Amino acid sequence: MTSLPVDRAQVRTCFPSLASGFGYLDNAGGSQIPDVVIDAMADYCRTSYVQTGGSYPASVATKCLLDETHAFVAEFLNAGSTGGVILGASSTALVHLLANAFGETLRPGDEIIVADSNHEGNATPWYRLERFGIKVIPWPVDSKSMICELGALERLLGARTRVVAFPHVSNLTGIIADVRAISEVVRAAGAIAVCDGVAFAPHRAIDVQALGCDFYFYSTYKVYGPHLGAMYGRHEAWAPLTGPNHVFIAQDSFPSKWELGSIPYEGCAGLLGLRTYLAFLAGESYAGNATVQRAFATMADLEHAPHERMYTYLAGKRGIRIIGPKTLSPDAVGTLSFRHATKSSAEIAHAVNRQELGIKHGNFYSVRLLCALGIDPDDGVARVSLVHYNTLEEIDRLAGVLDDFL
Ligand SMILES: Cc1ncc(COP(=O)(O)O)c(C=O)c1O
Repeated sequence: MTSLPVDRAQVRTCFPSLASGFGYLDNAGGSQIPDVVIDAMADYCRTSYVQTGGSYPASVATKCLLDETHAFVAEFLNAGSTGGVILGASSTALVHLLANAFGETLRPGDEIIVADSNHEGNATPWYRLERFGIKVIPWPVDSKSMICELGALERLLGARTRVVAFPHVSNLTGIIADVRAISEVVRAAGAIAVCDGVAFAPHRAIDVQALGCDFYFYSTYKVYGPHLGAMYGRHEAWAPLTGPNHVFIAQDSFPSKWELGSIPYEGCAGLLGLRTYLAFLAGESYAGNATVQRAFATMADLEHAPHERMYTYLAGKRGIRIIGPKTLSPDAVGTLSFRHATKSSAEIAHAVNRQELGIKHGNFYSVRLLCALGIDPDDGVARVSLVHYNTLEEIDRLAGVLDDFL
């Protein structure tokens, strides 16, 4: 076994919020943020908090910061020269932008296929196009495998399919989809593959070139950074679409044609600060995507033991039903949802929260998936979502609370 560049204790010292001892176990809702990211935001606010467009130093520095942030996100996603990245308030906001742009190019009767395993952020924006006569077709979840099966998609694809919207990972089950296989089928049918990477991005390195989708997006506040959404698109996929920013901005002015008004500059500074944290995890100076990959290898390694312990506990606990993989699988991230035979998910979450452990319950905006599985979306599931800074001790504390309560 090769040793990691850093251990869990070293990792935890990077996150000021973790010092309190509170157990942050709702990371799929939002991750914690390291000092280097916080400091980068504060430094920017102290030194260069001005608008772009001027020739004075702080304004020039801000413009450079924005350019560098877009370049970093493209590098983070291993986009190479294949496409461009836009930033915005959230993933949901970016998918609305994209769907609206598609709405202008589609004709009544054109079809969009939307996976029922999606978080609503990659569903509602597409369903809203029904008002223009566009047909939105659900890609159903198989109630046994809990995924949207490729065979079902193949049966739905047709001559009028324009877009297929699906998640890389379900934010409820943690199951990783075969994005490459899905994208190949979608693109072979002449349609555009739009992949939601939000629930994948905190756990593993992303390689949009290998995944082969046309658009890919994630939320940076779930990946140890500030509140922003980021969306990659292949150059050919952006080209036929019109960005909505001011009419006098040239259509080929990318990304500004797609970024409404100003994006959060301090957030961009924070995102750039993340490079330092990734370099720390990789045990080297930041050197582009190779560092990103090594950092995520460290994260995946650290996440494994708490994930395994949590899974083993839940799988062995009488009365608990895991809503996800039947075995501990390398094809799943550390997001575990469950229900109990007699206690509601709300009761479970509240009991856990009283003991300085943060989990949540509900539908997590994956209502379509829960309905497909026959689960009441109001009470939904209790969800524990782990990332690399979580500890075995936190899992044992949680197990103790559940043992007492259930
Ligand atoms: C899988 C998934 N997709 C999309 C979103 C929406 O992200 P945002 O809050 O950036 O709009 C979330 C948020 O929880 C999510 O978990």
